[in-house]
Amino acid sequence: GVTSSQPYEEFLQCLEFHDSNITSIVYTRANSSFSSLLESSIRNPRFDTSATPKPLLIFTPRQISHIESAIRCSRAHRIQIRKHKFQIRIRSGGHDYEGLSYTSPDQNSSFLLLDLIRFRNISIDLAQQTAWIQPAVTTGELYYRIAEKSSILAFPSGICPTVGLGGQISGGGWGTLLRKYGLAADNVLDATVIDAKGRILNRASMGEDLFWAIRGGGGNTFGIVIAWKIKLVPVPATVTACTVTRTLEQNATEIVHRWQYVVDKLPNDVFFMVVLNSVANPVQANATTIQASFNSLYLGGIEGLIPMMDAKFPDLGLRRENCVEMSWAKSILYFAGFPLNSPLESLLDRTISATGSAKFKGKSDYVKEPIPISGFEGIWEKLKEVGVQTGGLILASYGGKMSEIPESSIPFPHRAGNIYQVEEVAFWVEDGVEAADGYLNWLRGLYEYMTPYVSKNPREAYANYRDLDIGRNGGGGEGDYRRARSWGSSYYKNNFDRLVRVKTAVDPANFFRNEQSIPPLSSWR
Ligand code: FDA
Repeated sequence: GVTSSQPYEEFLQCLEFHDSNITSIVYTRANSSFSSLLESSIRNPRFDTSATPKPLLIFTPRQISHIESAIRCSRAHRIQIRKHKFQIRIRSGGHDYEGLSYTSPDQNSSFLLLDLIRFRNISIDLAQQTAWIQPAVTTGELYYRIAEKSSILAFPSGICPTVGLGGQISGGGWGTLLRKYGLAADNVLDATVIDAKGRILNRASMGEDLFWAIRGGGGNTFGIVIAWKIKLVPVPATVTACTVTRTLEQNATEIVHRWQYVVDKLPNDVFFMVVLNSVANPVQANATTIQASFNSLYLGGIEGLIPMMDAKFPDLGLRRENCVEMSWAKSILYFAGFPLNSPLESLLDRTISATGSAKFKGKSDYVKEPIPISGFEGIWEKLKEVGVQTGGLILASYGGKMSEIPESSIPFPHRAGNIYQVEEVAFWVEDGVEAADGYLNWLRGLYEYMTPYVSKNPREAYANYRDLDIGRNGGGGEGDYRRARSWGSSYYKNNFDRLVRVKTAVDPANFFRNEQSIPPLSSWR
């Protein structure tokens, strides 16, 4: 029931005034579906505990007018709850690394969860090679629908099929096609956005500054994206996916070291992801070793790949039996770790997760100079400190198209000069604060260890691998802007100031905000 004596009552009355049926899409904590709805898109169980701050209300709009009403009512009442301003958290796929789309690290914050879960339409225009997609569409759903219509079209978004395109494109979106076509955000042609005044804007009416900012400048900052128009890209009907694993005993150190000298210079048709972690030693009982898993995707058949790799990267020793030819859509399942015979329909499953039921935290880095052998030996020591397959590094090759796109083209700035991107991760299944602290400290130690080997001034980071360790908003006023410059230049480099200018112009009252949203300047001027 929404007619309680809660402090948000006026807001609810306003909603009902706009649309008398709206109560059916508002859930208070008293509602029996509240928890299941909240949990349905929590993709990091670290933020699904009894101590995790929960929304006061969950709002699940079915149509654009519902969102307009929510924004208008929020503003009309400047929703104040126990003197705190009510925040809106926007959720599409729920993969935010720090859970900011459905919770807040601040125990005192009050927020409404605007869950876009019902915004899941995809409409593909084959003739134009474009599509309009709503924000809760997952990458897997998009790839599946494209594959249904064409075996030679794709979209250069992320690898994990459950991620929402609302959040992913808002922060960039890299996947196996990044060396060929750049990021998802590089391939956006138009968008529909609801701004802080409740206006519905498209590219022409929002103007080029706002259109620039929403393609990578972070979610929950400039408005609510209710649709993206994207450009589909050509791929061959047959691609080749390969995996080569090497342990320390099989020269992993030398091969990973060598990999750094070739990977950004390979033809744009080749993408490499290398996963480094500690595994049970296959040849020695009760011992561990380090494994490097080289996963590559080649946009073409196996006949073209093997001779090229023999010529350019013989140290890897790639053989035909390491490789499988398949469609590009199937290669997503391959990279996401599905068994080879999995049906393409697995792409439609929103609930499977790359992390299973494990809690996780990730951090990111960019490598511009090859890490020396001694550097990798130190990484192996770190990986051995943590349990088997509970922590690791994921390296993704850059170069190619990524180096051709100017740093200021969209807010995502990590372009020419990067050999590869690094994600440092920790996974754990144990409950409780103590276990979590152990893994978090381990991860922070690894990150500290990486300092001399990665980008500096600023130490760059990927906005979509949100990491509150590098800074957060809080307190408001001038302090927010100053603090934000620190984490903001890691995510956006020199694009940060333009993002602040756009934010100041379109949302000076900071209606859309979270702990790492771009702050407006006018809030303290
Ligand atoms: P979620 O709904 O949590 O939103 C993320 C942020 O965007 C939040 O701040 C939210 O408020 C805001 N937001 C969401 N929808 C919005 C909208 N419609 N309008 C405005 N703001 C909105 N990345 C990558 O580039 N390549 C990859 O391969 C992967 N793989 C991957 C695997 C797994 C298991 C996870 C957990 C994450 C990734 N990512 C990734 C990172 C991913 O791109 C990032 O977490 C995205 O922001 C998630 O988007 P969702 O819509 O799912 O998240």
